[in-house]
Amino acid sequence: MFATQNPQQQASQPVTESNVIGKPTPRIDGPLKTTGSAMYASDYHFPDLAYAWPVTATIASGNITSIDSSAARKMPGVLAVYTHEDIGTLYRTPPAAGFSMIIDEKRPPLEDNVVRYYGQYVAVAVAQTMEQARAAAEAVKVSYSKTPHDTSEPVLGTPVATNSKKNITKRGDAAAAFATGAVKHDASYSTPAETHNPIELHASVAVYEDGKFTLYETSQAVMNHRDVMAAMLGVPPENVKVITKFLGSGFGGKLWPWPHALLAASCARNLQRPVKLVVSRSMMFQSVGHRPAIDQRIQLAADSTGKLQSIEQEYVNHTSILDDYDEGCGEATGFLYSCPNVLVKGGLARRNVGTPTSMRGPGAVPGLYALESAMDELALKLKVDPIALRLMNEPSKDESSGQEFSSRHLKECLTVGAEKFGWSKRNPTVGSMKNADGTIVGWGVAACTWIAARMEAEAAVELLQDGTARVACGTQDIGTGTYTVVGQVVAHETGLPLEKIDVVIGDSSLPPGPVSGGSWATASMTPAVLQAAQKAVQALVGLATKATGSPFMGKNTGDLEYVDGMVRLKADPSHQIAFGDLLKLTKVNAVSGKGSAQGTLGNPQTKYSFHSYGAQFAEVTWQPEIARLRVSRVVTVIDAGRMLNPKAARNQIEGAVVMGVGMAMLEATEYDQRSGAPINASLADYIVAVNADHPEIDVTFLDYPDYKLNALGARGVGEIGLAGIAAAIANAVHHATGKRVRNLPIKIEDLL
Ligand code: MOS
Repeated sequence: MFATQNPQQQASQPVTESNVIGKPTPRIDGPLKTTGSAMYASDYHFPDLAYAWPVTATIASGNITSIDSSAARKMPGVLAVYTHEDIGTLYRTPPAAGFSMIIDEKRPPLEDNVVRYYGQYVAVAVAQTMEQARAAAEAVKVSYSKTPHDTSEPVLGTPVATNSKKNITKRGDAAAAFATGAVKHDASYSTPAETHNPIELHASVAVYEDGKFTLYETSQAVMNHRDVMAAMLGVPPENVKVITKFLGSGFGGKLWPWPHALLAASCARNLQRPVKLVVSRSMMFQSVGHRPAIDQRIQLAADSTGKLQSIEQEYVNHTSILDDYDEGCGEATGFLYSCPNVLVKGGLARRNVGTPTSMRGPGAVPGLYALESAMDELALKLKVDPIALRLMNEPSKDESSGQEFSSRHLKECLTVGAEKFGWSKRNPTVGSMKNADGTIVGWGVAACTWIAARMEAEAAVELLQDGTARVACGTQDIGTGTYTVVGQVVAHETGLPLEKIDVVIGDSSLPPGPVSGGSWATASMTPAVLQAAQKAVQALVGLATKATGSPFMGKNTGDLEYVDGMVRLKADPSHQIAFGDLLKLTKVNAVSGKGSAQGTLGNPQTKYSFHSYGAQFAEVTWQPEIARLRVSRVVTVIDAGRMLNPKAARNQIEGAVVMGVGMAMLEATEYDQRSGAPINASLADYIVAVNADHPEIDVTFLDYPDYKLNALGARGVGEIGLAGIAAAIANAVHHATGKRVRNLPIKIEDLL
């Protein structure tokens, strides 16, 4: 999927001025959502729709010895109960190449009688109503022969399954530099498994007709979903269409297909009728991915002034029995600071858990929790201010790749943030700062970074007789504002108001668009949309000179210009016509333009180190008398290129900060070691940050367009907001309490 052309050959000139780009713009799909008319996957209904409910394993390791579904099959409304013996053939995908055909849990569901994690699907009941299907699933009797399971947290130093060769950074001799370092820090940090809990449950509605599937899915990547489903169902990709018009978010959990989607599609094909399968909240903790539990060790050495001499990072994350999911915790370690000696090593520990997957800021988010906690600890040992330590180690280029940074303003993030936060008033003595009511205050800081990238994308824009435009791109809106940003780009280029632009996304039959992940959808698709709009306008001007009925017939295209929906004579701008009228006069229904843009990620032609940066400042309040810890204030300064829609972008960062409070203080998926079950598998028991946990949040964007990435200067924003937050909070907790918590989440008992 990676283009081979030089991405720097991208045609478009930088867009520096605009009436719409960069303006805070309410979501164009907002009214559909607030009126309940936005169609999420599970909202699709068909006259003969059947409902599927999976039967899930109640052991974490072993074999199925028998499945007795005779009683279930006789229950009211039950259409079928499928097991590994009769679900039908499902195939595996070929190994993923680049960003194509990705699925994290690669074993097709119900492939054999082996159980490798608690909650694995072992059968599926289908009935006329959801209640009937669920009752039937509960009536299926599965017998097992158990084998020992392991759901323990991975620990560095114990045997790992594989020493991952991926994401390894090595330069200089970190061990030797550490041995001779003047000031050193060496500590381990652990983070628990975390489960994505978007409000919208995973769901699939599968329609099978004449050998073709239409799949209504909760997908952050409809194109990939189509290709994976086609490969696993054993049909050509043109026989699969994936629709995801709206997502109630995903946080990475909906990037790639999960087994339930294959169950729904198989049941639809077997029964020759539409089938809906909604994954329950408890199943969301089992079989649709999670951020794995991780153990990390960071070793830092600096000279006596604070100049870094070595960084060593070693991590191990758990993965499932069959799949190798690498969290990539060293993603940022190679380029965040200037340091001559760096070594990052990673490994995987097999556990009887569902396959992990990307969760908001995979790799860098847990990696930066460890690295940025360690930097704070090093600053304390050096007796250097933690901001000064970071400023002192600012690199002039990406020392891991040798590339120039496309645009990096981390120092400004830190200094602007310090100013806004009031950092100069910080007394570094632990527990020394108090509010008027006597509450102890702690202040902490962390730097952060996240990938910036463009993926290959195509888009099409049409200008129509009724004076409207239609833009199509096979991407999707995870809830972040993609509909609106696509509309803004077309509005910018065509001069049309947003109300006259029909944004069509969330459909795999559209021109291929990017995944809504990695925070790169915006950077990837907007160049293609911009180009498509430019070409549609060119086609319109061409039509004006050539088509019978046009008032400008016979003119040269150079004599004409297009401004704000009108085609006019350059020499006499009062001689003009609205494009819809031009199309009517020429009896042409629509003119169209296609745009395409190449990718940067993994492209050897990419010349720059593309990353976003930020500084996170956290304030906690601590009342030791009642052991009450709160995050009271967060100041975040983000350098992520140009904000195409600052309103939606701010919303992303605020949401990420709240999620960061959850990561630092609340979230952990607990596996019951006896059964291997994720035991807190509900929103009552898995604690996420809610409004009451919401600190005061001050978001600042440094608006430096990154024109090396694309003509709009946009890098995209989302995951960067979560990076560094947990470390900033942990550092603030140390400042308030003197307790250094190296195992998330920070619990009251850690502080007593
Ligand atoms: Mo994000 S974890 O790439 O959806």
